[in-house]
Amino acid sequence: MRLVQHSIIGYDFTMNRIHFLRPIGGLMAWAAVLMSGCDAPVEQYPPNAVHALVVHHRTDLPTEAAAQEVTQLIDQWFGTPLEPHWPAELLSGQAAKGLVDQDRLLRAPGSFYSDQDNLHYGLYTEHCVRCHGVNGGGNGAASALQNPYPRDFRAGIFKWKSTQRSARPTKDDLRRLMVHGAPGTSMPSFSRLSDDDLDVLVDYVIYLSVRGELERWLLYGAVEEIGYGDEPVEDPFRFGLVSIDNATGDRASEAALYAAEHLKRIVDQWGQSAEVAVPGASSDPASGSSVDADSVARGKELFHGQVANCAGCHGVDGVGGVNIVDYDDWSKEYSTRLGITPTDRQALEPFEALGALRPRLALPRELAGGYAHGGADAVTLYRRITQGIAGTPMPAVMLSETPSATALTPDQVWDLVHYVESLLETK
Ligand code: HEC
Ligand code: HEC
Repeated sequence: MRLVQHSIIGYDFTMNRIHFLRPIGGLMAWAAVLMSGCDAPVEQYPPNAVHALVVHHRTDLPTEAAAQEVTQLIDQWFGTPLEPHWPAELLSGQAAKGLVDQDRLLRAPGSFYSDQDNLHYGLYTEHCVRCHGVNGGGNGAASALQNPYPRDFRAGIFKWKSTQRSARPTKDDLRRLMVHGAPGTSMPSFSRLSDDDLDVLVDYVIYLSVRGELERWLLYGAVEEIGYGDEPVEDPFRFGLVSIDNATGDRASEAALYAAEHLKRIVDQWGQSAEVAVPGASSDPASGSSVDADSVARGKELFHGQVANCAGCHGVDGVGGVNIVDYDDWSKEYSTRLGITPTDRQALEPFEALGALRPRLALPRELAGGYAHGGADAVTLYRRITQGIAGTPMPAVMLSETPSATALTPDQVWDLVHYVESLLETK
């Protein structure tokens, strides 16, 4: 059964390749669409069926019961695309409660229109859903032909940010990404949207990411830690029985405490994201107009040298062409990490049937004459080199205050930045 995913306004009727866990609901959605002329809104977030299959592979246990109950809990806590909910009740501290604004949330999914105050609604449906999908799974209707694929927000992994490699982006990072897009990929620029609309979208990306990450953790935890799969679980451990009301206070069940703990942890990670300090940024000559030719020359040497060995992946003079067979984290999850060869079509078929996109090689970029997808200013490149790129094989260089055989000094990183800037065509 294929889930019908369609935009609210009739002309954008498309099919998604996400498996629907409840065939009857799926059939009814189909019928509703056919009868209503395709303008019925998506009523439920599609569950992460790919991850349920991943958990099954990892544990060799059945996951149906866990998937069903986790979906129930997630729906109760986070609502539906018609009425999304930020579970502030379950969070402590103003920062965590206010990370996502409930009023903004309501303006992202659902039908798109403007009200009498000219507030825009359905912003995510209008601008993002065709690529990023209703639940932020990155496998929207237009995703399959793109390279790189649109981001799956549910893993909590983001590439283009000012924070540490493993950290979440800041809200400013998300806003910047939307304003500039990711040049060289199909991620467009939304520079024409108002600040207010961008705020809505930033909050909604965070909401989808938190929601999706919790869903993933609970699926795994249910099977691996709580014992779903072997036998029916007892009521206090059943996620399906946990509404927001009975997740708080003394009456909270084991399942509620478990889920709330994970929710807090995930939300805290967003709260803790902070920009990586960049030493010497203000005195960096490249942030002004003149680039120091000596620094570029030193950078070129480092690029091809033993310690940084950028050329090992990006090729001599950054022209690419190095044949490295590797994949990004999103693809590895349902291939190499399960012992499945990413090119084994037959083994991947069950995952693809549930909406997984076919693994694509994560090729080191051709830097000469190429685009920096995540921003080409010097400070951004400095962070890129010292943090690497999350979710991809691009490593971080080691930093030290003094030159060594394994690490670079901040000055040497600046030299690399200047060399990379000289390679990139577009800024
Ligand atoms: C035409 C397809 C398309 C549309 C429409 C689109 N995106 Fe993207 N988006 C992408 C692709 C492709 C990437 C991955 C870029 C990469 O990996 O470098 C991406 C990446 C992202 C990322 C992850 C950035 C990171 O740091 O990893 C975010 C956040 C994002 N998009 C948000 C949005 C939002 C919000 C909208 C709607 C306002 C939107 N996108 C519309 C294709 C699209
Ligand atoms: C193990 C292979 C590998 C090594 C070593 C490596 N890179 Fe990369 N690099 C990649 C991959 C893969 C990407 C593409 C990531 C993506 O966008 O998915 C990339 C992307 C980049 C980008 C593009 C960033 C953007 O915004 O699009 C820059 C710049 C870059 N690398 C610089 C360097 C420098 C400088 C070094 C040496 C310090 C280096 N890389 C070492 C694999 C590597």
